[in-house]
Amino acid sequence: MDPSFTKVSSVAKAMADRSAGRQVDEVKSKVDLVEVISAYLPLKKAGRNYAGLCPFHTEKTPSFMVSPDRQVWKCFGCGENGDVFTFLEKIEGWEFRETLQELAKKAGVKLAAFRPTDRDRDRDKLFAVNSLAEKFYSHLLNKHPAGEVARKYLAKRGIPQTLWEKFGLGYAPSGWDNTLNFFAKRGFNLADLATAGLVIARSTSGARTWPGGGFYDRFRERLIFPLKDSRGSVLGFSGRTLRPFDSAQDSGQVREPKYINSPETPIFNKGSLLFGLDVTRKAIRDKNEAILVEGEFDVLSAYKAGLENVVASKGTALTQKQAVILSRVAESVVVCFDTDLAGDAAARRGIELLDISGVGIKVVRLGNYKDPDEFAQSDPAGFKEAVGSSANVYDYFIESASARYDGRTSLGKKKIGQEILPIISKISDDLVKAHYISQLAKVLDLETSLVAAAVEKKQSNLYSMLSPESKSDSSNKTNILNLEEYFLALFVFQDEATFSFLKLVEPSDFGSEEAADFWKWVRDIIKDSKLKSKSLKRLLIGLPKNLSGFVDNLYLVNISPAFADKELCAQELVKTARRIKQESCKRRLSAISKKIKLAQSKKDEAQLSVLSKQFDVISKNLKELI
Ligand code: GTP
Ligand code: MN
Repeated sequence: MDPSFTKVSSVAKAMADRSAGRQVDEVKSKVDLVEVISAYLPLKKAGRNYAGLCPFHTEKTPSFMVSPDRQVWKCFGCGENGDVFTFLEKIEGWEFRETLQELAKKAGVKLAAFRPTDRDRDRDKLFAVNSLAEKFYSHLLNKHPAGEVARKYLAKRGIPQTLWEKFGLGYAPSGWDNTLNFFAKRGFNLADLATAGLVIARSTSGARTWPGGGFYDRFRERLIFPLKDSRGSVLGFSGRTLRPFDSAQDSGQVREPKYINSPETPIFNKGSLLFGLDVTRKAIRDKNEAILVEGEFDVLSAYKAGLENVVASKGTALTQKQAVILSRVAESVVVCFDTDLAGDAAARRGIELLDISGVGIKVVRLGNYKDPDEFAQSDPAGFKEAVGSSANVYDYFIESASARYDGRTSLGKKKIGQEILPIISKISDDLVKAHYISQLAKVLDLETSLVAAAVEKKQSNLYSMLSPESKSDSSNKTNILNLEEYFLALFVFQDEATFSFLKLVEPSDFGSEEAADFWKWVRDIIKDSKLKSKSLKRLLIGLPKNLSGFVDNLYLVNISPAFADKELCAQELVKTARRIKQESCKRRLSAISKKIKLAQSKKDEAQLSVLSKQFDVISKNLKELI
C-alpha cells in the first residue's frame, strides 16, 4: 500500500476519533442516565443515588446503584459498572456506534459522518434491507389490491386495521420473485438480500437458468410479522401461511410449515427476542407485569381485548435470553400457554429460567379454549378475568400433575414426585415452601414429614444446577467499604467542600494511593480558590482523568440519607477521620518496628535511637486518638 495513503488515512481516522469523542461528550451531557435506565428497570431514590435490582445478575435485594451527579452506575453485587454507553451496550447488545446513534437521536444531537467499519457496513445493509422490506410488505397489506386476501384473512380472525398497523404487519404475495424484483429494481445486491434471509439460493443442480439470478423469495403468500428490537429496528420476520391449513386433512404431501421465520443472520437470533415487545414494553413496565403467550395471534387478540402488556415467545419453550429480557421489564409474568407447562419438559425449563431470574410467575387456565387467541376473541371479558385471577405457578403444577397421575397408586406417587419435588425444593421462601410441602403431602396422601425429607434431599443437589446464576448473590465482597472510601464518600456527599474538614486528615494518612491523590487534589484546589466554600460538583469539573473512576465510585456509595443533616455528617466525618488516622499510625508503627528489628540485628545504635524516638511520638499520637 502507498505509505502516504496510510498516513493520510490514519490522520483522517484520528480526526474522526477526536470529533467522535467530542460528540460522545455532547450526547452524554444531554441525556439523563436515570431516565435511560428507568426504561429498563424500576429505580428507587436512595439518598442522593437511585437503587434497583441489577439487570445483569440475579439478586433479591437491590445493589445496583445509579449516581445522577456523576452519570455513572455500578452493581455492588456483580461489580459491573459504567456510563450510559456501557449500560445500553450491555443491556441491548448494541455496538458502540449504534448506541451513539440512538442516544444522539434522543438528545437531538446531529452526528458528524462516521468512518464505519466493515462490520458496521454489513449490519447497516441488513437493517436497511429489512426496513425497506417491512415497508414493501406493509404497503401490500394496506394499499395494494393483491393484499385483499390477507385483509380478508385478518378480518375473519377479528383483527382490525388499527391493530395490525400498530404491530406493523404486512403481506408477502404469492409468486417466486416479487420481493426479489422489488429490491433488484432499486439496485440492491441479491447477495445482501440472501444474507438478510429474504431470498433463498436455488439449488444449483440442473442446467435450468432462473430469472431471479438463482434466487427466490422466502416469504410467499404469507402474512408478515416484523420482529423488532426495542429501537423499532426490524431484525427479521415471521410469516404465517394464508393457504388453507388443516392438519386433519393432511394428505401425506410435504406441506409448507404454518409459520416460517427469517434464518439466523448477523442481526437476527430468534431465541433472543419476544414478539410484540417493541409495542407493548411501556404497558408492561407500567403494570410491572407481562402476559406471556406463545403465538403472534395470541398477542394481537389479547391486545385487542385490552390486555396491552402482552408478548409472545413464538413457539413453546422460553429461552434463557427471553427470560432475562422479561425479568428486566417486569417483576411478574403471567404465563398463558396452550401447552401443559408441567407436562412439557421444555416449557417447564422456561418457567424455571423465569424463576431463577427472580420473576414471580402465575399461570392462566384456558379452560376449554384452544389458545389465548380463541379465548380473547370469543370472550374478551372472561379472558381478562382469567388473567386477573391467574393461579400461582406452584398450585398450577401440583394441580396439573395430580390430574395426569393417580396420587393414590405407588406409580402415580413416583411420577408426581419426580415432577413436583424439584420444583418445590427451589422455592426460596421457607413459609411458602412449607405450604406447598403440605399441599403435596395431601395430594399424595403421605405424611408431611416424609415429603419434607424428600424435598430436602432434592435440594442438596440443586446448587450445581443453579450455577452460574447463583454465584452472584453471595459475592458481596465489593459491598464492604473500606474506611477511606467511606470518609471520602461522606466528604463528597456534602454539596459543598468545607475548609474545616480538610485538616482532619493528611494525604499521607491514606493507605490507598488513589485516595491520597484525590485528597491532595481536593486540598490544593480548595486552597487555591478564593471563596470560603465551593460547590464540589463545580470543582470536580477540573478533576484529572485518572481520578475520575475513583470519584465515580465515591458517588455511588450509598450514604445514609440521615447525613443530609450537616451537623450529623460533620460528626461522622470527624469520627471516621480519627479512625483513618489511627490506622495510619498503626501502619507507621509496624513499619518502624520492622526497621528497629533490622537496626538491632545490625547493632546500629545511632539508627536505633532515632527510630525509637519516632516510635514514641507516633504511639503517643495513637493514644490520643483512641
Ligand atoms: P394460528 O392459527 O396462527 O393462531 O396458530 P396456532 O394457534 O395454531 O398456533 P400454534 O399454537 O400452532 O403456534 C404458536 C406459535 O408457534 C405461532 O404463533 C408461531 O410463532 C409458532 N409456530 C407455529 N407453527 C410453527 C411452524 O410450523 N414453524 C415455526 N417455526 N413456528 C411455528
Ligand atoms: Mn392461535
